[in-house]
Amino acid sequence: MKKNLAVIILAAGKGERMKSSTPKVLHNLCARPLLAYVLDLTSSLKPKKTVAVLGYKHEVVRKELTKDISVVIQKKLLGTADAVKLALSKLKGFKGTVLVLYGDTPLLRKETVDKLLKYHIDNSVDATLLTGKMNKPKGYGRIFRDKYFNISRIIEEKDADDFDKDILEVNTGIICFKKDSLEKALKKVRPNNRKKEYYLTDTIGILYKEGKLVDGVKIDDVKEAMGINSHLELAMANSIMQLRINEKFMLSGVTIVDTASTFIGYGSKIGQDSVIYPFTVIERGVKIGKHCSIGPFAHLRKGTDLADNVTLGNFIETTRTKIGANTFAKHFSYIGDARLGARVNIGAGTVTANFDGSSKHNTIIKDDAMIGSDTVLVAPVRVGRHSKTGAGAVVIKDIPDKKVAVGVPAKILNKRGRNG
Ligand code: UD1
Ligand code: MG
Repeated sequence: MKKNLAVIILAAGKGERMKSSTPKVLHNLCARPLLAYVLDLTSSLKPKKTVAVLGYKHEVVRKELTKDISVVIQKKLLGTADAVKLALSKLKGFKGTVLVLYGDTPLLRKETVDKLLKYHIDNSVDATLLTGKMNKPKGYGRIFRDKYFNISRIIEEKDADDFDKDILEVNTGIICFKKDSLEKALKKVRPNNRKKEYYLTDTIGILYKEGKLVDGVKIDDVKEAMGINSHLELAMANSIMQLRINEKFMLSGVTIVDTASTFIGYGSKIGQDSVIYPFTVIERGVKIGKHCSIGPFAHLRKGTDLADNVTLGNFIETTRTKIGANTFAKHFSYIGDARLGARVNIGAGTVTANFDGSSKHNTIIKDDAMIGSDTVLVAPVRVGRHSKTGAGAVVIKDIPDKKVAVGVPAKILNKRGRNG
C-alpha cells in the first residue's frame, strides 16, 4: 500500500446535545479533551497534510492544535459536507486519499484506520466507509445496500422511517475518499433533509449513482467508533477509555484491585509491583514509583511525583508534591506544594496549610522526619532531618535538624524536654 494521505478533522460543532457552553470536542475523557485523542491518532497515521475545521469557540479549540495543522473556520454550521468542502480549500495541490475523521470519535484505534486505508488504497475505491453493526443504533446514519449487497447510500436517522431505522449497520462517520471523487460529489450535495444541512454522507449515494466504486470495511468492535454527542455517551466512552488505561498498567505489573473504581488520568506513570486500592483517583500526569501502595480512597492530583516504596493510604490528597522513597502517609492528610524526603512518617490528619488567601507556599520535610498526628504545617515552612512534631502541633516556624517541636504555635523543646 502506497499511502499519500491527507486528513480532515471535523470539529466545528457546538455539540447541542451536550447542553454545555464548552465546545463538544473539548469535553474531557480520562482528564483529556476528546479532540486530543483524535489528534494523536491523526499524527500516528503520518499524513502529508492535516486540516481541522473549527467553528464554535474556535479560538479556544485552536489551542489544542499543533502548528503543522491547517485550520479553516466554518462560520455557519451548514453540515459535514460544507465543512469538508471548506477543508479542501487547504488541499489545493494535494492528490491522493482524503480521510475524514470526526472530532467527537476519541476511541478509534490506529489499527482500525490502517485496515480501512489499506483496503481503500489496495482496491482503488472511490469512497470506503468504516461501518459497524449495532444492536440498537441511536443517532447514527444507516447503511443501505442494493440487491448485490453493495453499499448504495446512507440515510441519517432524522430522515429515516421506522423500516430504515431497523437497519443495524451504521455509518461510523469515518470515511476515506479519492480526493477528486470527493470534490466532484460534494458539488452535488443538496440540503434536502429535515435538518436542512449539507450531509457528507450524501456523497455516498451520489458516487454510487455515478457508477463509482463505494465500499465498506466493518469494524470488529463498534464501540470503538462511538461518536460522543451527549454526556451519557461521554460517560460510556470514559469507562471504556479508563479500562484501556488500567489494562495497560495491569499488563505492565501494577495491581489494580478494583478497575471499576480506579480512575487514572491519561499519561500517568506507575511502577511495577505498585498496588492501587479501590476508590482512588490519580490525575493526569501523576508519577508513582515501584512497590508503592495507594488508597483506598486516595486522590493524587496534578504534580504528584512519588519515588519507590511510598505508601499513601486512606483519604490522602496530594498535589504539586514530590515524595522520597519509603515515606508513609497512611491516614487522612492533605499534602500540597510540598517536598518530602525519604523515610518520612506523616501522622494521621497532617495538613500542609499551603494557601494564605492570596498565594500558595511550599512545605519542605527532610529525610527521616516524623510528623505527629494532626500537625498543621503553615507554609512556607521547613522541618529538618530526623526532627519530630508533637500531636496537634501548629508549625509556623522552621524546625532545624534533630529537634522536636510541640504545641500551638509549635515551640522547639530543649534538651530537658521543655519549650525553649
Ligand atoms: C454523523 C454522521 C452519521 C454518523 C455519525 C457517527 C453526517 C451527516 N452524519 O452524525 O451518519 O452515523 O456521525 O458518529 O455526517 N461538524 C462540523 N460542521 C458542521 C457539522 C458538524 O464540523 O457543520 C462536525 C462536528 O463538530 C462533529 C462531526 O462533524 O465533530 C460530526 O457531527 P455530528 O453533529 O456529531 O454528527 P452526527 O449527528 O453524530
Ligand atoms: Mg456525532
